[in-house]
Amino acid sequence: MTGKKVIAIYPGSFDPVTFGHLDIIKRCLELFDTVIAAILVNKDKQPLFSPEERLEMMRDAITDFGPRVETIYFDGLLVEAARQHNANVIIRGIRAVSDYEYELQMALMNRKLAPDIETVFLVPDQKYSYLSSRLVKEVFSCGCTPECLVPDAVARRLIQKYNLSR
Ligand code: PNS
Repeated sequence: MTGKKVIAIYPGSFDPVTFGHLDIIKRCLELFDTVIAAILVNKDKQPLFSPEERLEMMRDAITDFGPRVETIYFDGLLVEAARQHNANVIIRGIRAVSDYEYELQMALMNRKLAPDIETVFLVPDQKYSYLSSRLVKEVFSCGCTPECLVPDAVARRLIQKYNLSR
């Protein structure tokens, strides 16, 4: 991709953003010119946080990364969002072999829909290999509020959602 700016789109539910997601974004900055964290507004899923809350948490979490990281909402097909934002690479994080089958299917479907957009899998730091938004919600919903999983602002929102105190 010589001479051409590489814009990476990093899609997900981000319900909520975790340190694992942020580790992937940090790695993207070493490889690509711009990274767009794209938050899926999925009406079928029942997210804990509204799209607005997820966007605010993401925006807050990426401020230290500077202007090469942006965040957007998207609805519908990822490849269409990628085209709208001139992204030529899709990023997905892979933590374990168990992630691979689903990710492979998505990558191949996206390639079928948009052969010019390449999917790149990145591996987060090993210390985040167990981390997922789903487990974060489970832990907080059970009243446990560890500091090592999500940024402080996200932890505060989880505490609020589940009516907890730290
Ligand atoms: O963090 P998640 O929930 O695993 O992210 C899944 C996501 C948002 C990447 C995926 O559901 C997606 O891309 N949805 C958009 C719909 C789409 O493009 N489907 C066709 C390609 S599989």
